[in-house]
Amino acid sequence: MPEIDTPPHATQTPQTIRTVGILGAGKVGTVLARLALAAGYEVLIASSRPPAAIALTVDVLAHGALATTAPDAAARADIVILAIPLGKYQSLPVDELRGKLVIDTMNYWWEVDGIRSDFTDPDTTTSEIVAAFLSDSRMVKGLNHMGYHDLDEGPRRAGDPRRKGIAIVGGDASDKEEVARFVDALGFDPVDLGDLADGGPLQPGGALFGANISAAEIRSTVEDAAA
Ligand SMILES: NC(=O)c1ccc[n+]([C@@H]2O[C@H](COP(=O)([O-])OP(=O)(O)OC[C@H]3O[C@@H](n4cnc5c(N)ncnc54)[C@H](OP(=O)(O)O)[C@@H]3O)[C@@H](O)[C@H]2O)c1
Repeated sequence: MPEIDTPPHATQTPQTIRTVGILGAGKVGTVLARLALAAGYEVLIASSRPPAAIALTVDVLAHGALATTAPDAAARADIVILAIPLGKYQSLPVDELRGKLVIDTMNYWWEVDGIRSDFTDPDTTTSEIVAAFLSDSRMVKGLNHMGYHDLDEGPRRAGDPRRKGIAIVGGDASDKEEVARFVDALGFDPVDLGDLADGGPLQPGGALFGANISAAEIRSTVEDAAA
């Protein structure tokens, strides 16, 4: 895959991702679309409705992104961001996501998702559940612990002392490296916290949930919580 120029917020690591697919055109989806556009990526965004139903919203909130269907966004993207209500994960386009690098931003929110004992099982993170469903995709959890307002206002150039951290977890080191480069390109310092099973602190109720702090503070928060 050809490389693209280093995005303005990024360190000097070359990027191999060109097209970002975002499933979910709500608060998080449109914020991440804006950040990805600002970083120089092509952005495809979808909801469960026909593209025409979100075209105006996308034009206003993420001008330059292309509204399409979820299967089309998944099929054409180099990296796909899941930004739909967690309770709807079984409606994700499994076939088109096969082999794709996927970032799971989804959190269990009972007011939206209903009471779900599977999503509150202390032995299984929700990303493990989604990864089992998308068993042929390359899943990394991330961009989920920060509220959408903070994500929107957060991007900073690499080296800026005000730069915030984004924790990621996943099972494959090279997939996490690719997601880390993407997070960096959006304007945040990536912090690798381990496997999907280690993602508890990122979930609602976890020590990092809601965190809008630096990478160093993310590491110390997790260490303190584990002590
Ligand atoms: N809000 C936050 O600050 C925040 C921060 C981090 C992570 N998150 C997580 O990010 C996810 C999205 O949150 P949000 O606040 O952006 O919710 P939201 O504003 O309600 O947006 C959800 C979007 O998903 C779409 N959608 C629903 N089902 C879909 C499907 N099957 N396929 C494609 N699109 C679908 C919805 O559109 P239609 O219903 O029209 O299809 C809507 O565009 C949630 O899992 C949430 O926990 C939220």
